[in-house]
Amino acid sequence: MPGQFTADRKRLQTDIDALAQFGKSGPTAITRLAFTKEDNEAHQHIEKLMREAGLETRHDVFGNLIGRRGGGEPDTKPVMTGSHVDGPPDGGIYDGVIGVLSGIEACRMLSETGVSTRRPIEVVAVRCEHLDRFGVSCLGSRALGGKLEQGDLDRLEDEDGNTLRRVLEECGFQPDQLAAASLKGRVHAWVELHVEQGRVLENRGKTIGVVTAIAGPTRYKVRVEGLADHSGATPMSIRRDAMMGAAEMILDLERLSRATEDCVGTVGVIRAFPGAVHTIPGTVEFYVDIRGVRAPDKARLVDAFRQAMEGRARERDLGLSMETFVDEPPVPCTDWVVADLTRVCEDLDANFMVMPSGAGHDTQHIAAVADVGMVFIPSGGGIAHTPEEYTPIEDVAYGTEVLAEALSRLADQEVTGVGAIR
Ligand code: CO
Repeated sequence: MPGQFTADRKRLQTDIDALAQFGKSGPTAITRLAFTKEDNEAHQHIEKLMREAGLETRHDVFGNLIGRRGGGEPDTKPVMTGSHVDGPPDGGIYDGVIGVLSGIEACRMLSETGVSTRRPIEVVAVRCEHLDRFGVSCLGSRALGGKLEQGDLDRLEDEDGNTLRRVLEECGFQPDQLAAASLKGRVHAWVELHVEQGRVLENRGKTIGVVTAIAGPTRYKVRVEGLADHSGATPMSIRRDAMMGAAEMILDLERLSRATEDCVGTVGVIRAFPGAVHTIPGTVEFYVDIRGVRAPDKARLVDAFRQAMEGRARERDLGLSMETFVDEPPVPCTDWVVADLTRVCEDLDANFMVMPSGAGHDTQHIAAVADVGMVFIPSGGGIAHTPEEYTPIEDVAYGTEVLAEALSRLADQEVTGVGAIR
């Protein structure tokens, strides 16, 4: 693809390996929960890398780390890139990390190539993307998106009962000034590079995905009530078996999801009560996760599935209740950013495709206050959140080169239709 920027593969690999030492819990595993000692040390290491790359660093009130490469017109809004460096227990060493390291590498490449831009470029290491510590994902990016409130800081606690507010204070940040973290009105464009965490790129033989939209999850708990009876003494004809009803409902979810264009439906948890080999389940609970990148399609699927469940419950004389605990809309990436990223890939003759993101990302929250886009690189076997997570360094470098080109162009842009850069 040769563009004007060439990533230093060896340097990128060194960066990946070095960061994998913080919270190392296996040869290619890390356990680096947000705001723990390991996570804080990883952020300190990244700050050092940023400084060595000539970036000016600062922390916002939530602890998000920002490294800034100055622009020729310093008062203009920066182009931002970044991702997270925390992970789930025994997670892999690529998720999130690649988005931060590629941003730093892109800045080094720009400097080494002698490229200066009109706008500043900022690389962000976003805090607490994973839900493993506080039960809610993307806390740092919610703060950047102005979506987190003071009350959330007291409500959210970790397993040991530490509130998010207390943890932030102990780390030396300023939770009482939370609103100051919002990027509203302060960004020209945000672009996150991330590993795909799926197999779409690999199956299609592509190295770059330009993301059009990020799927929003709707999650609920379903409770099916029948009658717990003796499994030997109760003839099939008079049973009210909650498990058999639930089984039909779950297969309905698969059938209905498959009939959509790009919605997905999953039941990942199921429990039967009383839970004995010789007892017909009187109650079954299962958890549903439905995602889609188009709100109307997802809404139709959620509705069709509810009707199907009601029908199954009626046929079998079962009770049915549903409790929604997550309902987030899909987030489209910004049209002009998607178009610009596509243009970059075309100009570089990159091996790319345009695709939605099934997984959630920091970018979906930053979209509340900024124009956003995302770039994917392949995940070997689609594996994510485990030590087997792997992306070849060649693909990381390729993505970084696309990112560098995109950042350099975006950072030279004026505001469309206004004429004046701002
Ligand atoms: Co991630």
